[in-house]
Formats: sequence, C-alpha cells, structure tokens
Amino acid sequence: MKLTDSMPKMAGRRYSATPALLEVRDLRVTFSTPDGEVTAVNDLNFSLRAGETLGIVGESGSGKSQTAFALMGLLAANGQIGGSACFNGQEILNLPEKQLNRLRAEQMAMIFQDPMTSLNPYMTVGQQLTEVLQLHKGMSRSEAFTESVRMLDAVKMPEARKRMAMYPHEFSGGMRQRVMIAMALLCQPKLLIADEPTTALDVTVQAQIMTLLNELKQEFNTAIIMITHDLGVVAGICDRVLVMYAGRTMEYGDARSLFHQPSHPYSVGLLQAVPRLDGPASTALTTIAGNPPNLLHLPPGCPFQPRCPHAMEICRTTPPLSAFADRRLRACFKPLEEIL
Ligand SMILES: Nc1ncnc2c1ncn2[C@@H]1O[C@H](COP(=O)(O)OP(=O)(O)OP(=O)(O)O)[C@@H](O)[C@H]1O
Ligand SMILES: [Mg+2]
Repeated sequence: MKLTDSMPKMAGRRYSATPALLEVRDLRVTFSTPDGEVTAVNDLNFSLRAGETLGIVGESGSGKSQTAFALMGLLAANGQIGGSACFNGQEILNLPEKQLNRLRAEQMAMIFQDPMTSLNPYMTVGQQLTEVLQLHKGMSRSEAFTESVRMLDAVKMPEARKRMAMYPHEFSGGMRQRVMIAMALLCQPKLLIADEPTTALDVTVQAQIMTLLNELKQEFNTAIIMITHDLGVVAGICDRVLVMYAGRTMEYGDARSLFHQPSHPYSVGLLQAVPRLDGPASTALTTIAGNPPNLLHLPPGCPFQPRCPHAMEICRTTPPLSAFADRRLRACFKPLEEIL
C-alpha cells in the first residue's frame, strides 16, 4: 500500500489542510558497479510538512545518505535516480545543475557528519558566512556581517563577534558543527537535511546539538530530515520516523508511538541497542546479531529475514508496507502482538 497520510482525505484532522513541503514517491537509487547493479534506495515513500522533523534511521549501509544525496542532487556519477520528489510544488530529482545550485543555496541545506568537509580551512568563519549572504541574498558586506553574527548567536556560539575572525581549526568539534548549522540556516532554507550531524562528537555535545536543532526548528519553522543510526536520538526531536534496512522501509510512522511500540523486528533490535532512561538500570544493551546485508546478494523476500528472530517461511516473499494503525505502516508478516 502507498502512503496516503499527506492526502487531504482525513477531513477535520490536524494534518489534513497543510500541503506537504516535500513529497517523495517511489524514490530509487541504483549504482552501476563492476560486480553488477546495486539498489541502495528501493522505492521509498515519505512526506514532510513545513516545520516537521522526519528521522531516517538504520544501520550502516541501509541507504540513508544516498536518500539525502538523491534529494540534494549530490549522487556519485555511477548512480541513477528513479521516482519523484516534489519540493514546494517543484520536481527536484534530476534537475539541471544551475537550478539545483540555486535550490541548494536558497531553499534546501544539508549538514554532514564531519563539518571540516564543508568548511574551507583557509578562510575565516566570518568570511565564509558573509560570502554566502552577499552571494545569495545580495547583502552588502556590513549587512552580511551583522546577519552572520546574529546567526552565530542563534546557534549559541559564545562571543560570536570575536569568533567571526577565527579559522575552522580554531574551533572545537561541537563549535564547528554549530558553525555548519549557522551556515546551513543563513538563507533560511525550508528544508534542512542533517546527516548524522553528531556522530563525531562526544555524548554531552551531541545532546547540546540536538537540543539546539530542536530550538532552531521552532524558531525558523524549518523542516528537518534527521539521519541517524540511533533510534534514541530521533525520539526526542522527530515527529515521524522512517526505519530503513537494505534500502527499504521497514516501518514508518509517528515517532513517539514507534519508540514506545516498535512494530518491526528490526526496529525492536535497533531500540534494544539504545540506552533507555525509563528502563531498569541493569538492562543490558544488545546489538542486532549478524551483519548488514550485502546489496549484491540480498536474500529473497524481506531483506532482514536472515537476521530476524521471528523469520518464517513466508518471509521469503516480500512483505508489503501496510497500514496497521493511525499514521503507521510496517513491512512484516509477523502479527504485531507476537514481535514485542
Ligand atoms: N558510488 C557508489 N557505488 C556503489 N555503491 C554505492 C555507492 N555509494 C553508495 N553505495 C552503496 O549504497 C549503500 C547505501 O549507502 P549509504 O551511504 O546510503 O548508507 P548509510 O545508510 O548512509 O550508511 P552509514 O550509516 O554508514 O552512513 C551502501 O551499501 C553503499 O555501499
Ligand atoms: Mg551515511
């Protein structure tokens, strides 16, 4: 079954009147490799409204970054995209470079795991921030300077004005990530994609950055796609979550109910790897047995089947992604009450 939750069918519901900011339909990313074609993203469907946060969660290699890269037009040269992604009423997949650059500069921004990959080590942070505003917003140098300091203040950079004259290497990892967030939000994008923005940071700083993103989303009404392998991270900040495995959606739905009652054995496994504040202190953390799949040699049917503690004969056929509760979908044959 296809996702229908963004369609204005549910008259009277809180979500019914708001059109989606981003509507992704049957998104598919394939790569040609010397060993054959791999499907890194397999018919993904989701939608996002202004100001909403979607978490995309899965282990390494599940296709999270390629989903983001496809939307941002940053796919490697051996990649092909299928499906559609409608952003603000415009199809954005496979756009010509010029239009894409404009969209990326003004409406969609992305922050990466390692901020050093996106900051220029030879320019001060101030130069990099003001340049963006002069180029894309036509601001004068002094206007751009004032606005950049304001944005560094917004990301809670201490002594923002003084920091403008510093180079990226003079900042700590957490502060660099704040600079990246400031840079991403400068042109007030409607959509921010954050690809594991805190994995390189220690736990305390991770929490600070997550809190910051949560505050900024409210202040700027920015929609966020938060990519992470940690289901615990998304619980606090996301409205909805998409759990991905081997390029496919395992489950999709409201973050709070998914966190409290995961509906797919894979999500249950991911959650058991998350420390829970509400659980008994002695609860041991477990990792999911086995390895993430090799995309060139996927098993028939459900890709999680070889690692699934509930696998049955029928799992050798592909389970459809179907609705089982309000705003929740799962791709699993096992009855819900039997997986928890
Ligand atoms: N240029 C490429 N050519 C072939 N395969 C690729 C290419 N880029 C990515 N892949 C494959 O696509 C799959 C999904 O990769 P992706 O980067 O989206 O994973 P991810 O979920 O972001 O993982 P991680 O948590 O490690 O960042 C991986 O199996 C990867 O090997
Ligand atoms: Mg990734």
